[in-house]
Amino acid sequence: MSGDLSSADVYKKQAAIQAVSYVHDGMVVGLGTGSTARFVVAELGRRVREEGLNIQAIPTSMSTKKQACEEGIPLITFADQSVLDIVIDGADEIELKTLNLIKGMGGALLLEKIVASTARQFVIVADTSKYVEHLGMRCPLPVEVVTFGWESTARKLSALGAQVTPRRSHDGSFFLTDENHFIMDCIFSPMTAPYTLADDILSIVGVVEHGLFLHMATTAIVGGEDGVHVLKPSL
Ligand code: A5P
Repeated sequence: MSGDLSSADVYKKQAAIQAVSYVHDGMVVGLGTGSTARFVVAELGRRVREEGLNIQAIPTSMSTKKQACEEGIPLITFADQSVLDIVIDGADEIELKTLNLIKGMGGALLLEKIVASTARQFVIVADTSKYVEHLGMRCPLPVEVVTFGWESTARKLSALGAQVTPRRSHDGSFFLTDENHFIMDCIFSPMTAPYTLADDILSIVGVVEHGLFLHMATTAIVGGEDGVHVLKPSL
């Protein structure tokens, strides 16, 4: 433990600091969203201020944009750059061996996937609680949908075998993403054919994107009781 951090936060921070050591002068960096990504942005900010690290970054949410601005990290947009050198982001589930992921419990999956899809290196930071043998064992699959006709879209997701719950905010209202869409949290039994499922979900009109990040992560840096592990996809 260090300071007021829980042990999970200590592991996330250790993973984040190691991931940020992959960032060098001149790089364009994608900044993820979530509690682990916050440690990444904090460490990048520290290096910008204390070491004069010269980078530009693209954030994946309004909340990350705000933190990056506070940290003094120079931001650009896709008007300036098409390919990012490295994207560092968290995940909700990491499938061992493939490094296939579920993302989006923080509601930023659409922007995260756009940013990750432009990355030369897509580095995941997490603590060991995110490991799963098969995707879908630990959390629902978030699916971002347009608000118009969402009930019909939700029924079509149910027809794929999901138990579908529209995500709500603390005050009971529908959760809205940064792009003003809804999120359907879909419980599928542990997924044995995630590629087919991903295609089936995307074929539903009204679905904008889903939280399956398949064959995208190039590295996972995972903190735990026995230190930080660096994993590569082996399947
Ligand atoms: C945000 O939409 C998500 O994809 C996050 O990257 C994911 O939920 C991991 O968040 P934590 O680091 O807070 O667990």
